Amino acid sequence: MEGRSAHAAERRFQLRSCLELLLLVVVLLFAPAIAQNTTASSGSCATAVTFNNTNKLFTSCTNLNVQSATLAWTLDSMNRTLEVLFSGQAPQSGGWVGWGINPGPQPAMAGTQAFIAFAASNGSTILTYNVTDASKGGGLKCTPISLHVLDMRVQIVGNSIAMLVKIQLQPNQSTVLNHVWNRGPSVSDFQPSAHAFDATDLSGLRTIDMASGESSSSAALPHQVLKNRHGVLNTVGWGIVLPCGVLAARYLRFADPAWFYIHVFLQLSGFTLGVAGWATGMRLGDYSKGIVHHKHRSIGITLFAISIVQVFALLLRPKKDHKIRKAWNIYHYSLGASILILGISNIFYGFDILSPQKKWRRAYIGVLIGLAILTLCLEVVSWAYTFRKKAVGRKPEGAQIGGAHSITNGYRQDV
Ligand code: HEM
Ligand SMILES: *[C@@H]1O[C@H](CO)[C@@H](O)[C@H](O)[C@H]1NC(C)=O
Ligand SMILES: *[C@@H]1O[C@H](CO)[C@@H](O)[C@H](O)[C@H]1NC(C)=O
Ligand SMILES: *[C@@H]1O[C@H](CO)[C@@H](O)[C@H](O)[C@H]1NC(C)=O
Ligand SMILES: *[C@@H]1O[C@H](CO)[C@@H](O)[C@H](O)[C@H]1NC(C)=O
Ligand SMILES: *[C@@H]1O[C@H](CO)[C@@H](O)[C@H](O)[C@H]1NC(C)=O
Ligand SMILES: *[C@@H]1O[C@H](CO)[C@@H](O)[C@H](O)[C@H]1NC(C)=O
Repeated sequence: MEGRSAHAAERRFQLRSCLELLLLVVVLLFAPAIAQNTTASSGSCATAVTFNNTNKLFTSCTNLNVQSATLAWTLDSMNRTLEVLFSGQAPQSGGWVGWGINPGPQPAMAGTQAFIAFAASNGSTILTYNVTDASKGGGLKCTPISLHVLDMRVQIVGNSIAMLVKIQLQPNQSTVLNHVWNRGPSVSDFQPSAHAFDATDLSGLRTIDMASGESSSSAALPHQVLKNRHGVLNTVGWGIVLPCGVLAARYLRFADPAWFYIHVFLQLSGFTLGVAGWATGMRLGDYSKGIVHHKHRSIGITLFAISIVQVFALLLRPKKDHKIRKAWNIYHYSLGASILILGISNIFYGFDILSPQKKWRRAYIGVLIGLAILTLCLEVVSWAYTFRKKAVGRKPEGAQIGGAHSITNGYRQDV
């Protein structure tokens, strides 16, 4: 009789254990895949802009992260033509949107060979401007530019202005180009008015290798140090330390009191790093009032709230044999899983927004794959222990070794 119920309890435990494993694998493998969908990518990009009723495909595209601007392009390496679709938002109706290439050594406004588009009295217009040091005054007049322009078109829908520009690169010209863009409130007599001068409006600068899609933001960009810190703290906190803490809780149970302290230590460290990262994110948000990344911000705030609740869960933990301990466990697991899913997803949204060099994204994907493989190995090892233990017969209480499966009830007796 007693043997039967012990057997049933073990089966129940194994079932729960399988569910937990499934959850872990889902989190580690699918959270990035879900977020992946929004990636600035190369391969084939359908742009959000339908130009002239046709949805053109480009080989590369990227979110420029300033003033809601995006860039999509196709570089024909045979005849060295570059077709670019730049799309931006004018600050108000009647405003202008400009994009250009600075042939100088650095991305900067002065010297940019720009295309500026706006709704003129005679219709949607795109013109070329050799942007000189505008502090000299005298307005910005339409001039020829040094780029070999094959084609330029404009499409204006409300305040969204898109321009499709085709240029011929010189035979010996590098494919690494300094992109410069901005927007302003009005245009009079084909002369665009000055743009605003806050941090966002002076950040339309990016160097991109059009052949590989690799972009290198110049170190001089405002808040770049803070952005890097934000990325590193969040990735390490939510994306590496917290998942490791979950693995510790699942697979180090054979070292009985120790696993609990390791788990708590890792989760508190991850939480601390994550909260520091969250705080830098809030500061970044304050600095760039104009741009709000709604999804990234909302997930970040939700994540912070849930993890605070999770920390309190630890303090309000009922005793192991208490009636509501079961409910507490479900609550603890589901909050933990939500934190991992939201955290890892938000890291990938963050990669899209900050668009650091591709190697960082790849490195983090590597870490996740590593954690998934580690999980599988630990799982196999702990099952092996369980079967061996069964074969050998029950060891006396306290002498158990093995992973999650070797502990009959799965919880420490006294915590
Ligand atoms: C319409 C006349 C324009 C005026 C009067 C003007 C004026 C200025 C001034 C005075 C600055 C320096 C601000 C500072 O250092 O604090 C600046 C920076 C900047 N402008 Fe313009 N600008 C004009 C057009 C444009 C256009 C058409 C673009 C892009 C296509 C552009 C993009 C930029 C960028 C990216 C910066 C920051 C980087 C840098 O200083 O080189 N501007 N602008
Ligand atoms: C990605 O998003 C697009 C719409 O934005 C949707 O049509 C597509 O099915 C999504 N793909 C995946 C794999 O989720
Ligand atoms: C739109 O497409 C039509 C037909 O393909 C073409 O004649 C027209 O010039 C295009 N307009 C623009 C602005 O690209
Ligand atoms: C560039 O090459 C493509 C084929 O690869 C051709 O269709 C296009 O007309 C060429 N453009 C120029 C400007 O020669
Ligand atoms: C409007 O007039 C300007 C100046 O003559 C010209 O450059 C531009 O192409 C015109 N725009 C349209 C849509 O015809
Ligand atoms: C652009 O303006 C600069 C400074 O006025 C001048 O040196 C340069 O030759 C101009 N470029 C073109 C293509 O007009
Ligand atoms: C490209 O070649 C032309 C003449 O062949 C030369 O004048 C120009 O300086 C070269 N540009 C670069 C970036 O090497």
